[in-house]
Amino acid sequence: MRKLNHALLAGALALACASCTAEKEANYQVIPLPQEVSLTQENPFKLNENVLIAYPENNALLQRNAEFLSEYIQQAANYAPKTKAIAAGEQVKNAIVLGLDPGIANKEGYVLTTTPEGISINGQTENGVFYGIQTLRKSIPAEAKEATILIPAGEIKDEPRFSYRGMHLDVGRHFFPKEFIKKYIDLLALHNMNTFHWHLTEDQGWRIEIKKYPKLTEIGSQRSRTVIGRNTQEYDNTPYGGFFTQEEAKEIVKYAQERYITVIPEVDLPGHMLAALASYPELGCTGGPYEVEKTWGVFPDVICIGNEKAMVFLEDVLSEIVELFPSEYIHIGGDEAPRDRWKKCPKCQARIKSENLKADKKHTAEDRLQSYCMSRIEKFLNSKGRRIIGWDEILEGDVAPNATVMSWRGMNGGLEAAKLGHDVIMTPNTYVYFDYYQTADTKDEPDAIGGCVPLEKVYSLEPVPASLNENEKKHIIGVQANLWTEYIATTQQIEYMVLPRMAALAEVQWTLPEKKDYRNFTKRLPQLLAFYDREGLNYGKHVFNIDSKITSDPEKKAVMIELSTIDDAPIYYTLDGTEPSAKNGTLYKEPIAVTQAANFKAIAIRPNGNNSKIKSEQIDFNKATCRPIELKNQPSPKYSYDGAIVLVDGLKGTNSYASGRWLGFPGKDVEATIHLEESTEISRVSTEAIIDLSAWIMGACGLSVAVSDDGKDFREVASKDYP
Ligand code: ACM
Ligand code: ZN
Repeated sequence: MRKLNHALLAGALALACASCTAEKEANYQVIPLPQEVSLTQENPFKLNENVLIAYPENNALLQRNAEFLSEYIQQAANYAPKTKAIAAGEQVKNAIVLGLDPGIANKEGYVLTTTPEGISINGQTENGVFYGIQTLRKSIPAEAKEATILIPAGEIKDEPRFSYRGMHLDVGRHFFPKEFIKKYIDLLALHNMNTFHWHLTEDQGWRIEIKKYPKLTEIGSQRSRTVIGRNTQEYDNTPYGGFFTQEEAKEIVKYAQERYITVIPEVDLPGHMLAALASYPELGCTGGPYEVEKTWGVFPDVICIGNEKAMVFLEDVLSEIVELFPSEYIHIGGDEAPRDRWKKCPKCQARIKSENLKADKKHTAEDRLQSYCMSRIEKFLNSKGRRIIGWDEILEGDVAPNATVMSWRGMNGGLEAAKLGHDVIMTPNTYVYFDYYQTADTKDEPDAIGGCVPLEKVYSLEPVPASLNENEKKHIIGVQANLWTEYIATTQQIEYMVLPRMAALAEVQWTLPEKKDYRNFTKRLPQLLAFYDREGLNYGKHVFNIDSKITSDPEKKAVMIELSTIDDAPIYYTLDGTEPSAKNGTLYKEPIAVTQAANFKAIAIRPNGNNSKIKSEQIDFNKATCRPIELKNQPSPKYSYDGAIVLVDGLKGTNSYASGRWLGFPGKDVEATIHLEESTEISRVSTEAIIDLSAWIMGACGLSVAVSDDGKDFREVASKDYP
């Protein structure tokens, strides 16, 4: 009998040990990187299912924070620590204790302290505690299973650099359901963001219920069909629509609020209003008829500012919007409103006269008509205790006096606005338009609107222009990335476009510039990617691909290929078009000099199997390749890349104008002189131009070829005009 007992006991012990010995280590190498992390030599705190999460009694917000933390731990470790209210001064053992500390300077700052006995997370406000919880959550391995998690002893003192940390989502071009909006909000929280800019109205769909104007959703939320691709003139012949009821909007606002995220609604006016005009044609200058738009672009039919009924319509809509959204800010758009209709509209011209709106050297009377509209709406919203945000077009004319400006066409609008004393949110398309491609190698990418902002480019954004003085710098209140959804029809594609670029943005928004380092960021990224993996998120994996720099070297008469990866993984390449591998390929050691036509392929090989995509480039040689080249007119700085040599580097342009393979010459002829350096026969000359009308990029209208023996006197030998 004794023997049997003994045997049973041993069995039980073995079982218990199997679950208690598994240990996993947490680490604070999170994104965004905290401002100060100091570790001590003490033993780590052991987080397991017996740990309590304590919060001060009668603090409902901290109670909810405690519940969030318990839920986050459960997602990683499959056990949910119990939460417990404690009285002031009450000590709890083996606990994570949440609390407030008025001594913490920043409203969103926190201090996280870990000792072998426990963890405390204090914030000046509950918001700060929430960010401490996010840091702790991201420190824990995403897949901790049932393990005891060892949390390193030490202290984190952290606060955000910017008070406005936003992500935008356009639900006008495509509609995404409430459940996904919540998931998106969860992503914002994971990245320490505090503002969701919800772009609710568009030419292609009105997405928010307005009780006084039911046709906005009956008619305006539906379109008969959608153009295929980039305005191909072919359509899918499928009706498309959707909108959020006011109840759903309130539910989203509450969901966001619980995660310390403010929802800023945008009603884009006076342009991007075709869905509203289709619903109420009397609000437009011509009276219609109008249709909810089925293609992408900027359209001439806008709100008739001369029509008092249309202005009252805008005020009525915003009256309902402010009831739904408690945010201090309401975004009223102001972008891309063509003046064509106003110029011809008797009502608008009468308004210009009655308001004494005058053209000057910089602005037309119609520019001032838009300013009249924005200022009037601003006054209206100010009277309701709200402030406005507008896109940087609102600087064209008389800026609404208290407006905050969202700088999207690069940073100049924001710079100018800050100098004028306006608050500014930087959302430059050159860095944080997440509808742009995330790689220059676009051939396997889903269609995007154009542009190119890879992860590193996002990361490199410094939102505060150095040319501002200290006072002006204070007006840069934050940063946001925008996601326009013309080419994004599914939630999976939203994830693909925003992740992991949101991670880079998070660090721009949160971390001090002197602490930012892209290499270091990429080393911390896998820990966050493991969260994305666990949640089944569809993120871009471009960060593991090979980066290449290909240039023409006229001295060596060679195309030089320089390769790198973020983690210095070994790269193997071939030049004969065969599949590269560790067996079939040359190990890359230094820049490769290619002196004849080559079909280049390369792969980075990693022990964990996380290999790069195969990088491939066709390099062609002709009589101009790698010869010295001069340009008479320089390309636009936006499209100059490596300059003239881009034209003779053996590479053809891709289907993206922003790949670095195309130079852009706005309004000027391209005059290139290529020094062939010896007398040579030319039988054929060819060149290519990219045309992308959706980005206002036009082709060439003629080509002329001239030759010279001395580089001075040129003789035209061929020319052609193109319609
Ligand atoms: C914008 O991208 N039209 C603000
Ligand atoms: Zn009008």
